[in-house]
Amino acid sequence: MSATSSTQVVPQTSPVPRHVAIIMDGNGRWATQRYLPRVAGHVKGVDAVRIIVEACAERGIEFLTLFAFSSENWRRPAEEVSLLMRLFMTALEREVAKMHLNDIRLKVVGDLSRFDAKLRAMIADAERRTANNKRLTVTICANYGGRWDITQAVNKMIAARTAAGIAGAADTDADAADFQEADLEPHLAMAYAPEPDLFVRTGGEERISNFLLWQLAYTELYFTETYWPDFDDAALGAAIDSFQQRERRFGRTSEQLVAKKKAS
Ligand code: IPE
Ligand code: IPE
Ligand code: MG
Repeated sequence: MSATSSTQVVPQTSPVPRHVAIIMDGNGRWATQRYLPRVAGHVKGVDAVRIIVEACAERGIEFLTLFAFSSENWRRPAEEVSLLMRLFMTALEREVAKMHLNDIRLKVVGDLSRFDAKLRAMIADAERRTANNKRLTVTICANYGGRWDITQAVNKMIAARTAAGIAGAADTDADAADFQEADLEPHLAMAYAPEPDLFVRTGGEERISNFLLWQLAYTELYFTETYWPDFDDAALGAAIDSFQQRERRFGRTSEQLVAKKKAS
């Protein structure tokens, strides 16, 4: 597993973030501002995804995680939800071959059980085709929620312990359970990735909206007013510039970091 836990071990850091996680927000407002229907913003948002995937590959970022549809987005008008699903399918159809050629691995995480069978089959096929690609891993979070992720991980952890006959399994007294962070982590949906170094939310809101709750423990947060359809390589560059100004202490003091730098 390539993932290490920021609360267990101080992670290696680098000037270029290894993992960037983005809440792609502001599609609707982008469209409304232009007197266009909200869907026009989502269509334009797909173009921005293409641009940012390429930009991340060029910049040597290893993991890009994009929040495409939250577990709460089902609350939107049915028309908008079904349009988003159709857009997702078309984008998969159109983009996967090119991603594969560019050595990009695609993963889709979230509660996929609510998607129709055709979409699920397309996702499985795209993941299978790109599974051995190394340059960049793009994860699309679809029907994803941070609380869903933690809950499903707990369920899997308990099931695994039951299967192995360990205390804390489903059929034993809860008092006997002594779960550690490290027991849960392998069951999280993105266990294959290191924790995000940089979180970006476009569209001006400053909230997490039930994105990667567990994984963002020590992630640097960056918020920009720019609507997602306008987010390009230069905007990503500005986010990385801001990231490079931060001192990532992981609980330590600034003096400790300075001393460590001098020693190396
Ligand atoms: C983000 O843009 C896309 C999804 C949540 C699917 P929005 O659709 O939330 O755009 P705003 O926030 O209404 O502008
Ligand atoms: C978060 O955006 C989810 C995605 C971008 C997929 P929302 O637009 O749904 O978030 P809230 O409702 O403003 O918090
Ligand atoms: Mg929004």
